Amino acid sequence: MSRQTRRAFLKATVVGGGAAASVASGPWVLRAGAQGAPLKIGLVLPYSGVYAELGNSITQAMELVFARENWTVAGRKIEMIKEDDEMAVPTGVRKTEKLIDADKVDILTGPVHSGILMGMRDKVHSSKTILIVSNAGADAISRERCSKWIFRTSFSNWQPNQPMGGWVAKNVSKDVFITAPNYQAGKDQLEAFKETFVPAGGKLVGEDYPKLGETDYAPYLTKIRQSGAKAVYAFFSGTDAVNFVNQFDQFGLKQSVKLTGAGFLTEPDVLPAQGKAALGTITGHFYTPLLDNPTNQRFVKEFRDKFAGKMPDGFACQGYDTAEVIVRALKAVNGNTQDKDKLVDVIAKVEFDSPRGRFRFDPKTHNVIQPFIYIREVRETPLGINNVPIDKVADVRDPGTGCTLPA
Ligand code: BEZ
Repeated sequence: MSRQTRRAFLKATVVGGGAAASVASGPWVLRAGAQGAPLKIGLVLPYSGVYAELGNSITQAMELVFARENWTVAGRKIEMIKEDDEMAVPTGVRKTEKLIDADKVDILTGPVHSGILMGMRDKVHSSKTILIVSNAGADAISRERCSKWIFRTSFSNWQPNQPMGGWVAKNVSKDVFITAPNYQAGKDQLEAFKETFVPAGGKLVGEDYPKLGETDYAPYLTKIRQSGAKAVYAFFSGTDAVNFVNQFDQFGLKQSVKLTGAGFLTEPDVLPAQGKAALGTITGHFYTPLLDNPTNQRFVKEFRDKFAGKMPDGFACQGYDTAEVIVRALKAVNGNTQDKDKLVDVIAKVEFDSPRGRFRFDPKTHNVIQPFIYIREVRETPLGINNVPIDKVADVRDPGTGCTLPA
């Protein structure tokens, strides 16, 4: 066998397996447990800008899971190639193309920003690259723009917000001002809130969309005060959440207006910078590090030990679950990722105990089914200021309207 032919043969058998693997018997054929080519995972995440800490949390938790496996799974060394999408759609798309075309990654993960996910979608779909979305919630990706190549371990924007509309109308107030950054995630999240808030008798006394990355919320807080709202429902994340929550308090609104929102508003990535300003805020989310299950307790301990006492947030849980899905799927195919259709089928069936509860994908959409959306209140706890569950809604799955897999 010539060197070139032998190299091509090795590629098809060792890395890919497939029909050749079952009949080949030469000394160069690696058996189960032997070392194949590295598994390349491309990360398109923000490591700068408003959502930088979200990207860090996802990455850190993935590293935690892969370190547990000594960075080798089913004979494949795990290689993470990290790209900063800089929170810009063209940059995110360019980095995606580079990871697919030049680096030839086996699996992609990220992004955080819904607009970047929408920008990446067609390249991922047409190149048949498996993308495990580890944050961006764009609803369309579980609906009319779904793809058999795209899974989501995080949430659709609808999931943490839809249960909150009815809950806020019933338990907080029927006179609510809603606000979120002016881009797709902001629009998706507030639409989902309205879906149950209005039928429950809620009245929207105002609605506003500051730009993503706003640093001065004074004009918006003035409008909230003038609206006569009894409560605000907000989606902000990263440094936007720090600025909004702190300025809401500094403005003196906290005394008369109850602050509620999507969980991202008071996640542990921002709570240290918000401090007491966040106390009393009520939000909906699939996770809090206070969840009382053994997988979460181990995760919180290991994460804090590894990352200088940092409290894991929902983004870290998403990174953990993304890496767990990869580890479990890779083991199930004995490290053979050549047959992509088979890998997709295997990923779709992965199930395990996650820090958030039982993890499984909805076969209808490839989006995670949330075991629970917790309604949480920010309180002082023995672990510091954190999100204490006060109520929950079980089995929250995106409606998946318009998605017919395989698409
Ligand atoms: C999004 O753009 O989809 C998003 C960003 C931050 C938190 C949640 C969702």
